[in-house]
Amino acid sequence: MEIEEFFTKFEGSSFTYNDLIFHPSYVDFGHEVIDLKTNITREIEINLPVVSSPMDTVTEDALAIAIALQGGIGFIHYNMSPQEQAKQIQKVKRFKSGFVSDLITLDPSAKIWDVVAIRNEYGFTSIPITEDGESHGKLVGMITKYDYSTLADEDLEKTVQERMTPVDNLTIARIDEISENGTIDIKQANTRLVDSHSTALPITDREGHLLYFLTRSDLEKHMSCPHATSDPSKRLLVGAAVETWFEKAEERLAAIHRDVDVVVFDTSQGFMSYEIDLVKWTKQHYPDLQIIGGNVVTPDACQALIEAGVDGIRVGMGSGSICTTQEVGGVGRGQATAVYECSKKCLQYGVPVIADGGIRKSSDIIKALCLGANAVMLGSLLASTNEAPGKTHIRDGVKVKEYRGMGSMQAMSRGSSVRYGMQSQLLRVPEGVTGMVASRGSVAEWIPFLMQGVRQGLYKLGLKSVEHIHEKLHLNQIRLERRSEEAKREGDIHGLYEVHMEAMASLSGPNTSETSIRQAIHN
Ligand code: IMP
Repeated sequence: MEIEEFFTKFEGSSFTYNDLIFHPSYVDFGHEVIDLKTNITREIEINLPVVSSPMDTVTEDALAIAIALQGGIGFIHYNMSPQEQAKQIQKVKRFKSGFVSDLITLDPSAKIWDVVAIRNEYGFTSIPITEDGESHGKLVGMITKYDYSTLADEDLEKTVQERMTPVDNLTIARIDEISENGTIDIKQANTRLVDSHSTALPITDREGHLLYFLTRSDLEKHMSCPHATSDPSKRLLVGAAVETWFEKAEERLAAIHRDVDVVVFDTSQGFMSYEIDLVKWTKQHYPDLQIIGGNVVTPDACQALIEAGVDGIRVGMGSGSICTTQEVGGVGRGQATAVYECSKKCLQYGVPVIADGGIRKSSDIIKALCLGANAVMLGSLLASTNEAPGKTHIRDGVKVKEYRGMGSMQAMSRGSSVRYGMQSQLLRVPEGVTGMVASRGSVAEWIPFLMQGVRQGLYKLGLKSVEHIHEKLHLNQIRLERRSEEAKREGDIHGLYEVHMEAMASLSGPNTSETSIRQAIHN
Protein backbone atom coordinates (compact mmCIF):
# COMPACT_ATOMS: atom_id res chain seq x y z
CA MET A 1 0.00 0.00 0.00
CA GLU A 2 1.26 3.54 -0.72
CA ILE A 3 2.62 5.19 2.40
CA GLU A 4 0.06 7.99 2.58
CA GLU A 5 -2.90 5.62 2.21
CA PHE A 6 -1.36 3.31 4.77
CA PHE A 7 -1.13 5.94 7.49
CA THR A 8 -4.55 7.32 6.63
CA LYS A 9 -6.09 3.86 6.83
CA PHE A 10 -4.44 3.18 10.20
CA GLU A 11 -5.00 6.61 11.69
CA GLY A 12 -5.37 6.10 15.42
CA SER A 13 -2.83 3.25 15.54
CA SER A 14 0.70 3.66 16.81
CA PHE A 15 3.29 1.63 14.89
CA THR A 16 6.84 0.72 15.77
CA TYR A 17 9.55 -0.02 13.19
CA ASN A 18 9.09 -3.70 13.83
CA ASP A 19 5.43 -3.52 12.83
CA LEU A 20 6.27 -2.41 9.28
CA ILE A 21 7.85 -3.90 6.19
CA PHE A 22 8.71 -2.00 3.01
CA HIS A 23 8.31 -3.28 -0.54
CA PRO A 24 11.28 -3.76 -2.84
CA SER A 25 11.28 -1.61 -5.92
CA TYR A 26 12.77 -1.69 -9.43
CA VAL A 27 16.57 -1.32 -9.27
CA ASP A 28 18.54 0.08 -12.21
CA PHE A 29 21.78 1.09 -10.51
CA GLY A 30 24.73 -0.47 -8.71
CA HIS A 31 25.49 -0.50 -4.97
CA GLU A 32 28.27 2.05 -5.50
CA VAL A 33 25.69 4.70 -6.45
CA ILE A 34 24.17 4.77 -2.97
CA ASP A 35 25.06 7.95 -1.14
CA LEU A 36 24.27 8.26 2.56
CA LYS A 37 24.90 12.02 2.89
CA THR A 38 22.17 13.88 4.71
CA ASN A 39 21.33 17.11 6.49
CA ILE A 40 20.64 17.15 10.21
CA THR A 41 19.79 20.86 10.22
CA ARG A 42 19.05 23.36 7.50
CA GLU A 43 22.80 24.03 7.18
CA ILE A 44 24.65 21.04 8.55
CA GLU A 45 25.35 18.15 6.24
CA ILE A 46 26.91 14.93 7.47
CA ASN A 47 28.17 11.96 5.46
CA LEU A 48 26.25 9.16 7.20
CA PRO A 49 22.71 9.34 8.62
CA VAL A 50 23.75 8.60 12.21
CA VAL A 51 24.20 10.84 15.21
CA SER A 52 24.98 9.90 18.79
CA SER A 53 22.63 10.63 21.65
CA PRO A 54 23.59 13.24 24.27
CA MET A 55 23.51 10.74 27.12
CA ASP A 56 26.14 10.43 29.83
CA THR A 57 26.83 6.78 28.99
CA VAL A 58 27.01 7.51 25.26
CA THR A 59 28.61 10.75 24.10
CA GLU A 60 31.69 12.48 25.42
CA ASP A 61 34.65 13.75 23.39
CA ALA A 62 36.10 10.31 22.51
CA LEU A 63 32.86 9.05 20.97
CA ALA A 64 32.15 12.39 19.29
CA ILE A 65 35.56 12.17 17.60
CA ALA A 66 35.09 8.53 16.62
CA ILE A 67 31.65 9.00 15.07
CA ALA A 68 32.60 12.20 13.21
CA LEU A 69 35.62 10.41 11.75
CA GLN A 70 33.20 7.85 10.29
CA GLY A 71 30.95 10.54 8.81
CA GLY A 72 28.29 11.01 11.52
CA ILE A 73 28.21 13.53 14.37
CA GLY A 74 28.19 13.27 18.16
CA PHE A 75 26.19 15.35 20.65
CA ILE A 76 28.03 15.78 23.95
CA HIS A 77 25.71 15.42 26.96
CA TYR A 78 25.07 18.11 29.60
CA ASN A 79 25.59 16.18 32.81
CA MET A 80 28.79 18.19 33.25
CA SER A 81 29.62 21.84 33.81
CA PRO A 82 29.44 24.22 30.83
CA GLN A 83 33.23 24.67 31.14
CA GLU A 84 33.87 20.94 30.99
CA GLN A 85 31.52 20.59 28.03
CA ALA A 86 33.30 23.48 26.26
CA LYS A 87 36.63 21.75 26.86
CA GLN A 88 35.35 18.49 25.38
CA ILE A 89 33.97 20.35 22.36
CA GLN A 90 37.38 21.97 21.84
CA LYS A 91 39.04 18.56 21.99
CA VAL A 92 36.83 17.38 19.14
CA LYS A 93 37.42 20.53 17.13
CA ARG A 94 41.17 20.32 17.64
CA PHE A 95 41.43 16.61 16.91
CA LYS A 96 41.94 16.95 13.22
CA SER A 97 42.24 20.04 11.17
CA GLY A 98 43.51 21.12 7.85
CA PHE A 99 45.14 24.40 8.66
CA VAL A 100 45.15 24.91 12.41
CA SER A 101 44.57 28.60 12.98
CA ASP A 102 43.56 28.65 16.68
CA LEU A 103 47.08 27.65 17.55
CA ILE A 104 48.60 26.59 20.82
CA THR A 105 52.04 28.17 21.01
CA LEU A 106 54.74 28.74 23.62
CA ASP A 107 57.53 31.26 23.98
CA PRO A 108 61.20 30.16 24.09
CA SER A 109 61.46 30.53 27.87
CA ALA A 110 58.68 27.98 28.51
CA LYS A 111 59.75 24.73 30.14
CA ILE A 112 59.66 21.27 28.59
CA TRP A 113 57.10 20.52 31.31
CA ASP A 114 54.73 22.93 29.55
CA VAL A 115 55.19 21.06 26.29
CA VAL A 116 54.43 17.74 28.00
CA ALA A 117 51.35 19.25 29.64
CA ILE A 118 50.00 20.35 26.24
CA ARG A 119 50.70 16.92 24.79
CA ASN A 120 48.83 15.26 27.68
CA GLU A 121 45.87 17.63 27.48
CA TYR A 122 45.39 17.91 23.72
CA GLY A 123 47.55 15.16 22.24
CA PHE A 124 49.67 17.67 20.24
CA THR A 125 53.28 16.57 19.97
CA SER A 126 54.64 19.43 17.81
CA ILE A 127 54.29 22.98 19.04
CA PRO A 128 55.31 26.16 17.20
CA ILE A 129 57.34 28.61 19.28
CA THR A 130 56.82 32.32 18.82
CA GLU A 131 58.89 35.23 20.10
CA ASP A 132 56.22 36.38 22.57
CA GLY A 133 54.31 33.10 22.94
CA GLU A 134 51.27 34.61 21.17
CA SER A 135 49.55 32.33 18.66
CA HIS A 136 50.23 34.65 15.74
CA GLY A 137 53.53 36.06 16.98
CA LYS A 138 56.83 35.96 15.10
CA LEU A 139 57.89 32.34 14.57
CA VAL A 140 61.25 31.52 16.19
CA GLY A 141 61.24 27.71 16.19
CA MET A 142 59.34 24.48 16.63
CA ILE A 143 59.53 21.73 19.22
CA THR A 144 58.60 18.17 18.27
CA LYS A 145 58.44 14.88 20.18
CA TYR A 146 61.94 14.06 18.93
CA ASP A 147 63.21 17.02 20.94
CA TYR A 148 61.77 15.95 24.30
CA SER A 149 60.22 12.48 24.40
CA THR A 150 63.34 10.68 25.60
CA LEU A 151 64.46 13.29 28.12
CA ALA A 152 65.06 12.23 31.73
CA ASP A 153 62.75 13.73 34.36
CA GLU A 154 65.35 16.24 35.58
CA ASP A 155 65.71 17.58 32.02
CA LEU A 156 62.04 18.54 31.86
CA GLU A 157 63.09 21.73 33.67
CA LYS A 158 65.02 22.78 30.57
CA THR A 159 63.67 25.60 28.47
CA VAL A 160 62.12 25.17 25.06
CA GLN A 161 64.86 27.43 23.69
CA GLU A 162 67.46 24.78 24.57
CA ARG A 163 65.66 21.95 22.73
CA MET A 164 63.71 23.48 19.84
CA THR A 165 64.71 23.54 16.19
CA PRO A 166 65.34 27.22 15.38
CA VAL A 167 63.35 28.84 12.62
CA ASP A 168 66.33 28.99 10.23
CA ASN A 169 66.55 25.19 10.21
CA LEU A 170 62.82 24.60 9.65
CA THR A 171 60.90 24.08 6.44
CA ILE A 172 58.33 26.86 6.39
CA ALA A 173 55.76 27.89 3.81
CA ARG A 174 55.05 31.55 3.26
CA ILE A 175 51.36 32.12 2.63
CA ASP A 176 51.92 33.86 -0.72
CA GLU A 177 54.00 30.90 -1.96
CA ILE A 178 51.20 28.36 -1.50
CA SER A 179 48.15 30.49 -2.32
CA GLU A 180 46.41 31.17 -5.54
CA ASN A 181 43.97 34.07 -5.87
CA GLY A 182 44.00 34.46 -2.10
CA THR A 183 43.07 30.80 -1.39
CA ILE A 184 45.53 28.36 0.12
CA ASP A 185 46.21 25.42 -2.17
CA ILE A 186 45.91 22.56 0.35
CA LYS A 187 47.47 20.01 -2.01
CA GLN A 188 50.55 22.17 -2.49
CA ALA A 189 50.84 22.71 1.25
CA ASN A 190 50.51 18.96 1.92
CA THR A 191 53.20 18.19 -0.67
CA ARG A 192 55.52 20.73 0.95
CA LEU A 193 54.89 19.06 4.33
CA VAL A 194 55.51 15.54 3.01
CA ASP A 195 58.69 16.62 1.18
CA SER A 196 60.02 18.37 4.29
CA HIS A 197 60.15 15.00 6.18
CA SER A 198 59.10 17.06 9.17
CA THR A 199 56.22 16.47 11.60
CA ALA A 200 54.60 19.81 10.81
CA LEU A 201 54.66 22.75 8.45
CA PRO A 202 54.30 26.27 9.89
CA ILE A 203 52.77 28.77 7.48
CA THR A 204 53.71 32.42 8.00
CA ASP A 205 53.05 35.82 6.48
CA ARG A 206 55.83 37.69 4.61
CA GLU A 207 57.14 39.11 7.90
CA GLY A 208 57.43 35.70 9.53
CA HIS A 209 54.35 35.87 11.77
CA LEU A 210 52.74 32.50 12.31
CA LEU A 211 49.38 32.10 10.54
CA TYR A 212 48.65 28.37 10.32
CA PHE A 213 50.13 25.06 11.25
CA LEU A 214 49.73 21.92 9.18
CA THR A 215 50.63 18.65 10.87
CA ARG A 216 51.57 15.26 9.51
CA SER A 217 49.30 13.48 11.99
CA ASP A 218 46.31 15.48 10.67
CA LEU A 219 47.24 14.51 7.16
CA GLU A 220 47.40 10.84 8.19
CA LYS A 221 44.05 11.08 10.01
CA HIS A 222 42.51 12.68 6.96
CA MET A 223 43.86 9.99 4.66
CA SER A 224 42.61 7.14 6.86
CA CYS A 225 39.12 8.71 7.31
CA PRO A 226 38.33 10.46 4.02
CA HIS A 227 34.59 10.59 4.81
CA ALA A 228 34.90 12.32 8.16
CA THR A 229 32.29 15.00 8.81
CA SER A 230 34.16 18.25 8.85
CA ASP A 231 33.72 22.00 8.64
CA PRO A 232 35.30 24.15 5.90
CA SER A 233 38.52 24.31 7.98
CA LYS A 234 38.59 20.49 7.97
CA ARG A 235 37.87 20.32 11.70
CA LEU A 236 35.46 17.61 12.85
CA LEU A 237 31.86 18.68 13.43
CA VAL A 238 30.47 18.38 16.92
CA GLY A 239 27.15 19.01 18.62
CA ALA A 240 26.17 19.51 22.26
CA ALA A 241 23.09 19.25 24.41
CA VAL A 242 21.72 22.30 26.23
CA GLU A 243 19.11 22.35 28.98
CA THR A 244 15.72 23.96 28.40
CA TRP A 245 16.01 25.84 31.69
CA PHE A 246 16.82 29.43 30.85
CA GLU A 247 19.51 30.23 33.47
CA LYS A 248 21.40 27.02 32.75
CA ALA A 249 21.00 27.35 28.99
CA GLU A 250 22.22 30.96 29.01
CA GLU A 251 25.37 30.00 30.93
CA ARG A 252 26.03 26.92 28.80
CA LEU A 253 25.50 28.69 25.48
CA ALA A 254 27.88 31.45 26.55
CA ALA A 255 30.53 28.82 27.28
CA ILE A 256 30.16 26.71 24.14
CA HIS A 257 28.77 28.81 21.29
CA ARG A 258 32.17 29.75 19.84
CA ASP A 259 33.25 26.20 19.07
CA VAL A 260 30.15 24.05 18.85
CA ASP A 261 28.58 23.51 15.41
CA VAL A 262 25.06 22.66 16.52
CA VAL A 263 23.12 22.44 19.76
CA VAL A 264 20.18 20.29 20.68
CA PHE A 265 17.75 21.52 23.31
CA ASP A 266 17.47 18.31 25.22
CA THR A 267 14.17 17.67 26.92
CA SER A 268 11.82 14.72 26.84
CA GLN A 269 8.85 17.02 26.02
CA GLY A 270 9.80 19.79 23.61
CA PHE A 271 6.29 21.08 22.90
CA MET A 272 6.37 23.65 25.69
CA SER A 273 6.62 27.36 26.12
CA TYR A 274 10.06 27.16 27.81
CA GLU A 275 11.64 25.59 24.77
CA ILE A 276 9.86 27.80 22.28
CA ASP A 277 10.94 30.95 24.18
CA LEU A 278 14.47 29.62 24.49
CA VAL A 279 14.73 28.89 20.76
CA LYS A 280 13.61 32.45 19.97
CA TRP A 281 16.04 33.92 22.51
CA THR A 282 18.94 31.83 21.21
CA LYS A 283 18.25 32.74 17.59
CA GLN A 284 18.29 36.39 18.60
CA HIS A 285 21.52 36.17 20.60
CA TYR A 286 23.40 33.58 18.52
CA PRO A 287 21.91 33.92 15.03
CA ASP A 288 24.58 31.73 13.43
CA LEU A 289 24.13 28.79 15.76
CA GLN A 290 22.25 25.81 14.33
CA ILE A 291 19.55 24.60 16.71
CA ILE A 292 17.78 21.26 16.94
CA GLY A 293 14.53 21.28 18.90
CA GLY A 294 12.65 18.40 20.49
CA ASN A 295 11.75 15.88 21.55
CA VAL A 296 8.39 15.87 19.85
CA VAL A 297 6.09 13.31 18.27
CA THR A 298 3.27 15.34 16.70
CA PRO A 299 3.07 17.63 13.66
CA ASP A 300 1.67 20.58 15.64
CA ALA A 301 4.67 20.41 17.99
CA CYS A 302 7.01 20.39 14.96
CA GLN A 303 5.24 23.39 13.52
CA ALA A 304 5.51 25.34 16.79
CA LEU A 305 9.25 24.68 17.04
CA ILE A 306 9.82 25.49 13.37
CA GLU A 307 7.95 28.76 13.75
CA ALA A 308 10.12 29.55 16.78
CA GLY A 309 13.18 29.13 14.55
CA VAL A 310 14.70 25.64 14.94
CA ASP A 311 16.88 24.29 12.13
CA GLY A 312 16.24 20.61 12.85
CA ILE A 313 13.76 18.50 14.80
CA ARG A 314 14.38 15.49 17.04
CA VAL A 315 11.49 13.04 17.09
CA GLY A 316 10.75 10.38 19.69
CA MET A 317 9.01 9.94 23.00
CA GLY A 318 8.99 6.69 24.89
CA SER A 319 10.75 4.63 22.22
CA GLY A 320 14.24 4.53 23.75
CA SER A 321 15.56 1.17 24.90
CA ILE A 322 16.04 2.40 28.50
CA CYS A 323 12.88 4.47 28.57
CA THR A 324 9.89 4.03 30.88
CA THR A 325 8.09 7.25 29.91
CA GLN A 326 5.20 5.40 28.23
CA GLU A 327 4.83 3.11 31.25
CA VAL A 328 5.09 5.86 33.88
CA GLY A 329 3.14 8.55 32.08
CA GLY A 330 1.00 6.80 29.47
CA VAL A 331 2.34 9.29 26.97
CA GLY A 332 4.41 9.01 23.80
CA ARG A 333 3.92 7.47 20.40
CA GLY A 334 4.98 4.42 18.41
CA GLN A 335 8.20 5.59 16.80
CA ALA A 336 7.37 4.67 13.19
CA THR A 337 4.12 6.63 13.31
CA ALA A 338 5.79 9.56 15.07
CA VAL A 339 8.59 9.72 12.50
CA TYR A 340 6.19 9.58 9.55
CA GLU A 341 3.76 12.18 10.89
CA CYS A 342 6.48 14.60 12.01
CA SER A 343 8.61 14.20 8.88
CA LYS A 344 5.60 14.92 6.68
CA LYS A 345 5.19 18.27 8.41
CA CYS A 346 8.92 19.08 8.54
CA LEU A 347 9.45 18.20 4.86
CA GLN A 348 7.01 20.98 3.96
CA TYR A 349 9.36 23.45 5.66
CA GLY A 350 12.63 21.89 4.54
CA VAL A 351 13.57 21.18 8.17
CA PRO A 352 15.45 17.89 8.71
CA VAL A 353 14.24 15.27 11.17
CA ILE A 354 16.35 13.10 13.46
CA ALA A 355 14.53 9.91 14.47
CA ASP A 356 15.59 9.37 18.08
CA GLY A 357 15.24 6.10 20.01
CA GLY A 358 14.28 2.54 19.33
CA ILE A 359 16.95 1.76 16.72
CA ARG A 360 18.09 -1.81 17.27
CA LYS A 361 19.45 -2.83 13.87
CA SER A 362 20.20 -1.59 10.36
CA SER A 363 16.66 -2.32 9.17
CA ASP A 364 15.28 0.16 11.74
CA ILE A 365 17.55 2.85 10.27
CA ILE A 366 16.26 2.11 6.76
CA LYS A 367 12.67 2.21 7.99
CA ALA A 368 13.25 5.56 9.75
CA LEU A 369 14.72 7.03 6.55
CA CYS A 370 11.87 5.65 4.42
CA LEU A 371 9.37 7.22 6.82
CA GLY A 372 10.96 10.59 6.14
CA ALA A 373 13.73 10.99 8.71
CA ASN A 374 17.05 12.47 7.58
CA ALA A 375 19.08 10.65 10.20
CA VAL A 376 18.75 8.48 13.28
CA MET A 377 20.01 9.13 16.79
CA LEU A 378 21.59 6.15 18.52
CA GLY A 379 21.78 5.46 22.23
CA SER A 380 22.18 1.77 23.06
CA LEU A 381 23.87 0.91 19.76
CA LEU A 382 26.71 3.30 20.64
CA ALA A 383 26.79 2.88 24.43
CA SER A 384 28.09 -0.58 23.60
CA THR A 385 31.22 0.69 21.82
CA ASN A 386 34.74 1.08 23.19
CA GLU A 387 34.63 4.86 22.77
CA ALA A 388 31.52 5.39 24.93
CA PRO A 389 32.24 6.62 28.48
CA GLY A 390 32.61 4.00 31.18
CA LYS A 391 34.46 0.79 31.74
CA THR A 392 33.94 -2.54 30.06
CA HIS A 393 32.98 -5.34 32.48
CA ILE A 394 32.77 -9.08 31.99
CA ARG A 395 29.41 -10.71 32.85
CA ASP A 396 29.07 -14.46 32.30
CA GLY A 397 32.00 -14.33 29.92
CA VAL A 398 30.50 -11.48 27.88
CA LYS A 399 32.02 -7.98 27.61
CA VAL A 400 29.40 -5.43 28.71
CA LYS A 401 29.17 -1.69 29.36
CA GLU A 402 26.77 0.27 31.51
CA TYR A 403 24.00 2.12 29.71
CA ARG A 404 21.48 4.25 31.56
CA GLY A 405 18.57 6.50 30.75
CA MET A 406 19.05 10.22 31.38
CA GLY A 407 15.83 9.89 33.38
CA SER A 408 17.26 7.16 35.63
CA MET A 409 17.84 8.15 39.26
CA GLN A 410 21.62 7.95 38.82
CA ALA A 411 21.74 10.20 35.74
CA MET A 412 19.19 12.67 37.15
CA SER A 413 21.34 13.13 40.23
CA ARG A 414 24.10 14.42 37.90
CA GLY A 415 21.90 17.08 36.29
CA SER A 416 19.55 15.55 33.75
CA SER A 417 16.48 15.83 36.02
CA VAL A 418 15.93 19.05 34.01
CA ARG A 419 15.30 16.89 30.92
CA TYR A 420 12.17 15.60 32.68
CA GLY A 421 11.21 18.91 34.32
CA MET A 422 12.02 17.42 37.74
CA GLN A 423 14.87 19.68 38.84
CA SER A 424 12.85 21.16 41.70
CA GLN A 425 10.85 18.06 42.67
CA LEU A 426 11.78 16.35 45.91
CA LEU A 427 9.99 13.16 44.98
CA ARG A 428 11.00 11.87 41.55
CA VAL A 429 9.75 8.88 39.61
CA PRO A 430 12.47 7.76 37.21
CA GLU A 431 11.56 7.61 33.52
CA GLY A 432 14.59 5.57 32.60
CA VAL A 433 16.47 2.52 33.78
CA THR A 434 20.09 1.51 34.17
CA GLY A 435 21.40 -1.62 32.52
CA MET A 436 24.22 -3.24 30.63
CA VAL A 437 24.72 -3.59 26.88
CA ALA A 438 26.90 -6.17 25.18
CA SER A 439 30.11 -4.69 23.78
CA ARG A 440 30.28 -4.04 20.03
CA GLY A 441 33.94 -3.11 19.81
CA SER A 442 35.16 0.05 18.19
CA VAL A 443 33.02 2.67 16.44
CA ALA A 444 35.49 2.42 13.55
CA GLU A 445 34.32 -1.14 12.88
CA TRP A 446 30.74 -1.05 14.09
CA ILE A 447 29.50 2.02 12.17
CA PRO A 448 30.79 0.88 8.75
CA PHE A 449 29.20 -2.53 9.43
CA LEU A 450 25.85 -0.99 10.37
CA MET A 451 25.97 1.34 7.36
CA GLN A 452 26.72 -1.50 4.99
CA GLY A 453 23.44 -3.09 6.15
CA VAL A 454 21.69 0.21 5.40
CA ARG A 455 23.24 0.34 1.92
CA GLN A 456 22.13 -3.22 1.18
CA GLY A 457 18.56 -2.47 2.25
CA LEU A 458 18.32 0.78 0.31
CA TYR A 459 19.62 -1.03 -2.75
CA LYS A 460 16.81 -3.58 -2.64
CA LEU A 461 14.32 -0.78 -2.14
CA GLY A 462 15.67 0.94 -5.25
CA LEU A 463 16.59 4.03 -3.24
CA LYS A 464 19.83 5.87 -3.94
CA SER A 465 19.98 8.51 -1.23
CA VAL A 466 18.03 10.35 1.45
CA GLU A 467 17.18 12.96 -1.16
CA HIS A 468 15.84 10.23 -3.43
CA ILE A 469 13.69 8.90 -0.56
CA HIS A 470 12.26 12.36 -0.01
CA GLU A 471 11.41 12.67 -3.69
CA LYS A 472 9.64 9.30 -3.57
CA LEU A 473 7.78 10.30 -0.41
CA HIS A 474 6.69 13.49 -2.08
CA LEU A 475 5.36 11.46 -5.03
CA ASN A 476 3.82 8.94 -2.59
CA GLN A 477 5.78 6.15 -4.27
CA ILE A 478 7.01 4.35 -1.16
CA ARG A 479 5.04 1.21 -0.42
CA LEU A 480 4.76 -0.70 2.81
CA GLU A 481 2.68 -3.13 4.81
CA ARG A 482 1.94 -3.98 8.39
CA ARG A 483 3.50 -7.26 9.50
CA SER A 484 1.36 -9.86 11.22
CA GLU A 485 2.89 -11.52 14.29
CA GLU A 486 3.51 -14.61 12.15
CA ALA A 487 5.17 -12.47 9.47
CA LYS A 488 7.52 -11.05 12.10
CA ARG A 489 8.45 -14.56 13.20
CA GLU A 490 9.00 -15.55 9.57
CA GLY A 491 11.26 -12.53 9.04
CA ASP A 492 13.44 -13.50 11.98
CA ILE A 493 15.83 -16.49 12.01
CA HIS A 494 13.61 -19.53 12.58
CA GLY A 495 13.37 -23.29 12.41
CA LEU A 496 17.11 -23.97 12.77
CA TYR A 497 18.56 -26.48 15.20
CA GLU A 498 21.75 -24.42 15.46
CA VAL A 499 22.71 -20.95 14.28
CA HIS A 500 26.32 -20.20 13.45
CA MET A 501 28.06 -17.03 14.53
CA GLU A 502 28.71 -15.50 11.13
CA ALA A 503 25.03 -15.70 10.24
CA MET A 504 23.98 -14.09 13.48
CA ALA A 505 26.67 -11.41 13.37
CA SER A 506 24.70 -9.80 10.56
CA LEU A 507 22.45 -8.30 13.20
CA SER A 508 24.86 -7.49 15.97
CA GLY A 509 28.16 -6.49 14.48
CA PRO A 510 31.42 -8.11 13.56
CA ASN A 511 32.85 -8.05 17.04
CA THR A 512 30.45 -9.79 19.32
CA SER A 513 30.45 -13.11 21.07
CA GLU A 514 27.79 -15.71 20.43
CA THR A 515 26.15 -15.10 23.80
CA SER A 516 25.97 -11.36 23.24
CA ILE A 517 24.60 -11.86 19.74
CA ARG A 518 21.86 -14.07 21.13
CA GLN A 519 21.06 -11.44 23.73
CA ALA A 520 21.01 -8.71 21.10
CA ILE A 521 18.72 -10.70 18.83
CA HIS A 522 16.25 -11.41 21.59
CA ASN A 523 16.23 -7.86 22.91
P1 IMP B 1 17.96 4.03 22.22
O1 IMP B 1 18.81 4.35 21.03
O2 IMP B 1 16.79 3.17 21.90
O3 IMP B 1 18.77 3.46 23.35
O4 IMP B 1 17.32 5.41 22.72
C1 IMP B 1 18.08 6.56 23.00
C2 IMP B 1 17.15 7.71 23.26
O5 IMP B 1 16.32 7.49 24.40
C3 IMP B 1 17.85 9.01 23.62
O6 IMP B 1 18.40 9.66 22.51
C4 IMP B 1 16.77 9.80 24.32
O7 IMP B 1 15.91 10.49 23.45
C5 IMP B 1 15.95 8.73 24.99
N1 IMP B 1 16.25 8.65 26.42
C6 IMP B 1 17.44 8.78 27.04
N2 IMP B 1 17.32 8.59 28.35
C7 IMP B 1 16.03 8.35 28.58
C8 IMP B 1 15.28 8.07 29.77
O8 IMP B 1 15.80 7.96 30.88
N3 IMP B 1 13.94 7.93 29.61
C9 IMP B 1 13.34 8.05 28.40
N4 IMP B 1 14.00 8.24 27.26
C10 IMP B 1 15.34 8.41 27.35
